[in-house]
Amino acid sequence: MTNSTTLATARQEAAQLDAADPLAGFRGEFHLPSELYFCGHSLGPQPKAAAEQVAAELRAWAETGVEGHFRPQRPWGEYTRPMAAACARLIGAETDEVAVMHALSVNLHLMLASFYRPQGERVRILMERPAFPSDRYALVSQLQWHGLRAEEALIEVGPRAGEATVRVEDLLARIEAEGARLALVLLGGANYVTGQFFDLAACARAAHAAGALAGFDLAHAIGNVPLALHAAEADFAVWCGYKYLNGGPGAPGGVFVHRRHFAGGATPRARLAGWWGNRADTRFAMRPDFEPAPGADGWAVSCPSVLPLAALDAALAMFQRAPLDEMAAKSRALVALFDRQADAHLPRLKRITPREAAARGGQISLELADAAAAAALQQRLRAAGLFSDTRGPVLRVSFHPLYHRYADAVGCVERLQRALAG
Ligand SMILES: Cc1ncc(COP(=O)(O)O)c(C=O)c1O
Repeated sequence: MTNSTTLATARQEAAQLDAADPLAGFRGEFHLPSELYFCGHSLGPQPKAAAEQVAAELRAWAETGVEGHFRPQRPWGEYTRPMAAACARLIGAETDEVAVMHALSVNLHLMLASFYRPQGERVRILMERPAFPSDRYALVSQLQWHGLRAEEALIEVGPRAGEATVRVEDLLARIEAEGARLALVLLGGANYVTGQFFDLAACARAAHAAGALAGFDLAHAIGNVPLALHAAEADFAVWCGYKYLNGGPGAPGGVFVHRRHFAGGATPRARLAGWWGNRADTRFAMRPDFEPAPGADGWAVSCPSVLPLAALDAALAMFQRAPLDEMAAKSRALVALFDRQADAHLPRLKRITPREAAARGGQISLELADAAAAAALQQRLRAAGLFSDTRGPVLRVSFHPLYHRYADAVGCVERLQRALAG
């Protein structure tokens, strides 16, 4: 069988899968910059409903001014309430464990202020390498804030020599070895370069067994992989709204705080406070003393940014209509189809994302010889209508169950094959 006949067969298989896909209708609800848009790990495409939803809030502002804060339907002061429920569903949390607020790195600092409390010899933070630079900057600056040096207090666990991804067994062994020196484990839910998804429950269990806390950066995980943060006993998590959630450039993010850390719970947490974290019922009493709201809302600092939230809300409303099991199954099937075709037609192209379904989501990372080779491939793909991006020698493409078709998995392999040949 020649390459072209097997790709023709793959196209037929994909067409059948697309015809039977229960999520197929969602694709039409997005503005796609190109037929083959594979950059949802960086900036998700725009939901068509976003424009009208932002316009509606602009109209409300024009017509009602300050009264929008207190209007009977969806007052601005409570704008994020349904959004917290939507995010809680996506990360496997109780609604009161989620606050939709601020931006990812800011939220990480707010969480670290509460959950990184070095004491005695328990000062160390463990993270994966390479982690997203902003996370590392946040951790190093927090260490410095506490008068500590990264050289001594930041533990980075990377891949073994010759390997591309971090072995979970290595993470767990290092957590155990650090023992009483460890204050916090902070991992990307899914790694931004390799797309590797970590076993969050195992990492949280190991952190707790060592007497430390466990937090996760879900930027590349929320909306991408099934999550069960509450059951995993994670202490906290943060995320952004602009990648797999499709909330728009710089869209607000969110936090998860496990219920056991709520104000009034067994282990109440100190925090950096602002008026939006005050109890809603006494916020406008304007009292000088801060009374934290009971749940994750108690970590909010500033009032909600309604215009960007409106775009994110349009996206989250779409997720609310999509069954989680169908999204997870389609995401797995899309990358599996890509893999089968890449095995057959791109045998020399190195894929560094783990192959096991439990250890990845919709991102596929391809490793080229160097950054220049990756950039050149990205440009050839772009000229052929395919959006991807690069980080050093790694070219990233990612699949999303709400806007990709099975035909796109085959189309991606075809474009790669042609771009590599040309
Ligand atoms: C894993 C990860 N962490 C942190 C950030 C920083 O996000 P923000 O600029 O929203 O703070 C990003 C941004 O892409 C990211 O991918």
